Amino acid sequence: MTEQQPIYRGKAKSIFRSDNPDELIVSFRDDITAFDGAKKDELTDKGVYNATVSAYLFGRLEEKGIATHFVRMEDERTMIVRPLTMIPVEVIVRNAAAGSLVRNYPFEEGQRLDPPVIVLDYKDDARHDPMINEEIIVALGLMTAEEIDAVKTIALQVNDLLRAEFGRIGLDLVDFKLEFGRHGDRILLGDEISMDSMRLWDMETHASMDKDVYRFDKGDVMATYATVAERLTGA
Ligand SMILES: Nc1ncnc2c1ncn2[C@@H]1O[C@H](COP(=O)(O)OP(=O)(O)O)[C@@H](O)[C@H]1O
Ligand SMILES: [Mg+2]
Repeated sequence: MTEQQPIYRGKAKSIFRSDNPDELIVSFRDDITAFDGAKKDELTDKGVYNATVSAYLFGRLEEKGIATHFVRMEDERTMIVRPLTMIPVEVIVRNAAAGSLVRNYPFEEGQRLDPPVIVLDYKDDARHDPMINEEIIVALGLMTAEEIDAVKTIALQVNDLLRAEFGRIGLDLVDFKLEFGRHGDRILLGDEISMDSMRLWDMETHASMDKDVYRFDKGDVMATYATVAERLTGA
């Protein structure tokens, strides 16, 4: 596997073909980036923590009947998944205001959003992932209106499960990002669900327990990732 060239090398993961045409190999690297790649580092075992948390959460979602691309773990940073034709729309669920919502709109940081707010971004680094709306998604032919509804319903189900999982370990799920893709005539939840793609705040101290620790130099990034992975999976 390692001699092979990846078919795609993203900012944090590399994708390899497998002998099985209905499987892809996703390697979670130790690269961490922020601000559209302007800030970059390599942090030992970062990929392992994100792979471990993603695999655990995909497993829990599958148990609840939510269809994901997850097949199995090959090793601690290598995930076998169904090959998807990715839909370049980031589906973001927000339970409290943070990040771009506070920068762009008159919300207070941490203001609760009940019901949760779903934000859709067009995934395109060169365009800085602009917010998109349902009509633009349909006009671009990325999804039908019915598919958008289905994906939003799934995102809210994922939110319920994730909030319970993180609540159990004393963490408040502020927001998270999902990516979906097509597999035959189905749409499956793909990519990752990790500390890179969520905001988690300690319920007592409100300390960040996610990539914001890296973005804003708030502390020991890998100690934070290790704590979340260990508490969540009991490993
Ligand atoms: N099951 C899948 N099949 C094909 N591509 C996938 C699958 N899951 C995730 N991807 C894509 O693989 C890439 C993962 O690498 P990542 O480093 O996160 O890339 P990026 O820099 O684009 O965010 C992303 O572009 C993601 O959309
Ligand atoms: Mg990514």
